[in-house]
Amino acid sequence: MALLIHLSATYSTNDYVKQLLLNGPLEEGSIVYTDFQSTGKGQRGNSWESEKGKNLLFSIVLYPTMIAADKQFIISQFTSLAIKEVLSLYTDNITIKWPNDIYWQEKKICGILVENNLMGGQISQSVIGIGINLNQITFESDALNPVSLKQITGIEYSIEEILHAIHEKIILYYQEILVGKEKEITTQYKSSLFRKEGYHWYHDKNSQFKARLLDIEDSGLLVLETEDKQIRKFAFKEISYILQS
Ligand code: BTN
Repeated sequence: MALLIHLSATYSTNDYVKQLLLNGPLEEGSIVYTDFQSTGKGQRGNSWESEKGKNLLFSIVLYPTMIAADKQFIISQFTSLAIKEVLSLYTDNITIKWPNDIYWQEKKICGILVENNLMGGQISQSVIGIGINLNQITFESDALNPVSLKQITGIEYSIEEILHAIHEKIILYYQEILVGKEKEITTQYKSSLFRKEGYHWYHDKNSQFKARLLDIEDSGLLVLETEDKQIRKFAFKEISYILQS
């Protein structure tokens, strides 16, 4: 049976799960969640801020051995889609900001950190870490644009209730992948994207430019068309969105 482990505090649920997995596999779908992380990890080597007891911080373990290494982006797709669907039960204007941030309007409500182990060209193990701002109302870090569900609606949320709803949805979408429905997931992912219409500002290492979203490749590359009709492709670390404050 899948485990549900609750820790009052840990360094990082992703690191805790990976440590446990060194002693042998946990049942697929097992979850570790915590009230506080002393060294919560974000993408691009950033830290993840979360006030004790206020937010949902968890990691889930999967063994998606049928997913080829070059298709690993599908994990970000079904995970972000599951979270977007659940948060949309509580508020409007939830979108997925490529590759796998969850946004409310121009602000970030959730971050996802997927850490995969690869073996022979396939994924042998995936630890998916999810941080969702639920009940925190002030943010200390210099993160640009955090927002919590409580800041949006004024309501206090049950962390466990949202954890269970998201767990269920992730497993449901994962099972769709297992029966070959990647295309359906990808279509839903693309139709849920932040700034999927119109021209918006971006910057890469050289300059700022306006472009519109054309596509996301299966590998996860972002495909943009600039105002002068150039098609440009970007990996995650190569581009940033310029957000409205
Ligand atoms: C991001 O930078 O957008 C990703 C943030 C991921 C944060 C979550 S919180 C639970 C899990 N444990 C971690 O250390 N990070 C992820």
